[in-house]
Amino acid sequence: MMGTNAIDKYSFDEEIDRREVPALKVHPIVIGEDGEHLFAAGVADMDFKAPPPVIEAMQHRLEHGLFGYEMIPDGLLPALVKWLDEHHNWSIDKSEVLVAPNILTALAIAASLFTDEGDGIIVQPPVFFDFFDVIRENHRAVIENPLIFEDGHYRMDFDDLERKASSPNVKMIYLCNPHNPIGKVWEVATLQQLGDICERHGVLVVADEMHGDLVFSGHRYTPFASLSKKYSDNCLSLISPAKTFNIASCCSAFTVITDEVKRKAVQVENSRLSVNKNNPYANVAMEAAFTKGAPWLKAAISYLEDNVALVRERLGRIPGAELVEPEGTFLIWVDFNGLGLESDELYAFLRNEAHWSVTRGKSFGKEGMGFARVNIGCTREKIRTALDNLESAIDGLTP
Ligand SMILES: Cc1ncc(COP(=O)(O)O)c(C=O)c1O
Repeated sequence: MMGTNAIDKYSFDEEIDRREVPALKVHPIVIGEDGEHLFAAGVADMDFKAPPPVIEAMQHRLEHGLFGYEMIPDGLLPALVKWLDEHHNWSIDKSEVLVAPNILTALAIAASLFTDEGDGIIVQPPVFFDFFDVIRENHRAVIENPLIFEDGHYRMDFDDLERKASSPNVKMIYLCNPHNPIGKVWEVATLQQLGDICERHGVLVVADEMHGDLVFSGHRYTPFASLSKKYSDNCLSLISPAKTFNIASCCSAFTVITDEVKRKAVQVENSRLSVNKNNPYANVAMEAAFTKGAPWLKAAISYLEDNVALVRERLGRIPGAELVEPEGTFLIWVDFNGLGLESDELYAFLRNEAHWSVTRGKSFGKEGMGFARVNIGCTREKIRTALDNLESAIDGLTP
């Protein structure tokens, strides 16, 4: 656990009114018109201010006062390359990096470029719901390779993956590493096994690794493409500082592609779609984050770990609500099946009795039925109150 001083310095305990700006997390569109009193634990961003150097860099840029067309600042890609090397032992060249507006656009571009209409793209539910939408909206077929849930832990089903990957019109997999919503940080052996199967069957790996920096003590995020050239040449790696530094509305994403042919294809597509404009705020924010944000990140992870510890301790005493032990991210995955409620009943109970606004487990695929994804990237106080409310609500359920 980190000393309280570092954490105090960053005021993670400060409650900031997010309604002062049109924040999605507390917007009526997400929590409902009458949802102001709820524990807003749905949308995946944190309630913490960005690292001070990021705010300062943006202030500085604002004061310049001129916001015409700009290039990518010279320091940005080297800062990213250094970050990946120092934090994840992943050595890349800046020429292998393309800027994308965000991860979802990069996922869509990958699908439209490297698969044809009607082709299959594999996903591993329970998994980030937008994967399903991106695939369907691009007129591709969702091919499900559900994770296996056993004794409170998730693992990949490789027999099923091999079968699905071997089908001739299955061309791509969206890997989620670390895996939203279950907070799993995939181990090297798992990534290798997945990489081998995909290579054998000509299935391109699109690795969404945007949660890679938010990993708890005792676990290690391994970028899929860092494992070997064989894997990286069959992969598009999507990374972003959005979650890491809580700057989702003010940053871009990056696609790392070591294979020159694929990289050129994405470059041409980016140009065709004109997704190559630069936002000066995003650029200075990202550069400051990569060069000066590490101490803030360390403190943020420590604060999140303590939030998880509190949830673990309290849920351990609340019947019918099981925490699936997270290894990273600020999202926890809670199994409410023990309450014995039907799906709609469960979410009505969570909202109306416990005052929790969560993301329904079934949004992540049918395997998520009876679960909820809960965002714990908020003040400790908020979590304490939410747990008190949950405990009283569940008490009220028992006859
Ligand atoms: C795994 C994952 N991928 C992509 C996104 C969305 O990323 P972006 O906002 O950059 O499109 C999210 C946001 O929650 C996510 O969790």
